[in-house]
Amino acid sequence: MNYCKRITLPIFTSTILMLSSISATAQDFRLGLITPPPHMWTKAANSFAEDLNAKSNGKHKVSVFPARQLGNEAQMVQQLQTGALDMAFLTIAEMSNRVPDFGALYAPYLVKDIHHAAALLRSDTATGLLNKLPSQTGLVGIGYGMAGMRQMLSRDAVASPIDLKGKKIRITPFEPIRDFYAAIGMAPTPLPLPAVYDALANGQVDAIDMDFDSIMILKFYERADNLLISNHMMFPMVGVISGKTWKRLSKDDRKLIQQTMQQHLSNVIDHFAAQEQMLEDQIRALDITVQEVDASSVAEVIKDWEKTWSVKAPILKQLRKTAADLQEG
Ligand code: BEZ
Repeated sequence: MNYCKRITLPIFTSTILMLSSISATAQDFRLGLITPPPHMWTKAANSFAEDLNAKSNGKHKVSVFPARQLGNEAQMVQQLQTGALDMAFLTIAEMSNRVPDFGALYAPYLVKDIHHAAALLRSDTATGLLNKLPSQTGLVGIGYGMAGMRQMLSRDAVASPIDLKGKKIRITPFEPIRDFYAAIGMAPTPLPLPAVYDALANGQVDAIDMDFDSIMILKFYERADNLLISNHMMFPMVGVISGKTWKRLSKDDRKLIQQTMQQHLSNVIDHFAAQEQMLEDQIRALDITVQEVDASSVAEVIKDWEKTWSVKAPILKQLRKTAADLQEG
C-alpha cells in the first residue's frame, strides 16, 4: 500500500468525525417565549419541539422555556444575539423597538379583522420585512404567528376610546401602541402580561389593551367588566433563530428547522383566525358590558399616528396598499 494513502484515510475519517461532532453540538436547542403554558404560542412551541424531534429521527431536541423563564423579550433578544439562546417566539413589539419598520405592522386599523390580518402577515410585503432582521438584529426571522385583534377592557363604563382620555391604560411595552394611546390623551402604562391581572385588581391601571384570548385565559374580565370591541390593531408574533446558531447549522438542518417552525407558526395564525368569533361569542355571554366601535371613533388619532410613523417606518405606505389590495381581491 502506498504510504500516502495509508495516512490520508485516517485524516479523512477524523475530519468527517470532527464535522459530525460540530453538527452534533447543535442538537439541543433552547426556545424562549413570554406566554404562559396554556397560551397557544406556548402550545405551538411545544408541538414544534416534538415535530422537529420526530422529523430529525431524534437528532434535534428543543427545550421550551415559557412564561419569561429566561427573562423579558429584550433580555431574550440579547441572549439570541450572543448565542446563549437558540430560538424564540417574540411579539413584534421587541422587533419594532429595534427595527422601526416593524412598527408599521401595528398601524391602527391597518386590517379590518383577524382574517385580513392573517392574509396580510402571509403577504410578500410582510414576509419581506423579515429580511431586515439578520443585518439589523443578528437574528434570522423564520415566519409570523399572531394573537387575536386588540381590544380595550376597562374598569369604568365607556362608549368610545375617547372616553378613556386621562385614564391609565396598560400596554405591551412598545412605541407604536404607546403613540396610539398617547394621541387619544390616555396615559399608556407598559406592563408585561403576567402583571396585568394584579394591576387591574389594585387600580394601578384603569383599562388594558388586550386580545379576546388572553382576556379569557387570564380571566381579566373578573377585574374589568367593560369591553370596547375596537379591533384597532393586529398583534403579530415572529419566530426567530439566533444568527450564531444558524451559522453552525448544515444546509439540510436549516431547511428542516425552517420548514418545521414555519408550519407551526402558520398553525398559530390559523388557530387565532378560526377561534376569534367563538371567543367573541363567549365574551359576550359573560356578565360584562360590551360596546363596539370602529376606525371613525379615532379618526383624528389615526392621522396623528400616521404623521409620526410614516416617517419612522417607511414600509407603512406599502403595507397599507397591500392591505387594501387584499381587501379588494
Ligand atoms: C400582551 O402583552 O398583551 C400579549 C403578549 C403575548 C401574547 C398575547 C398578549
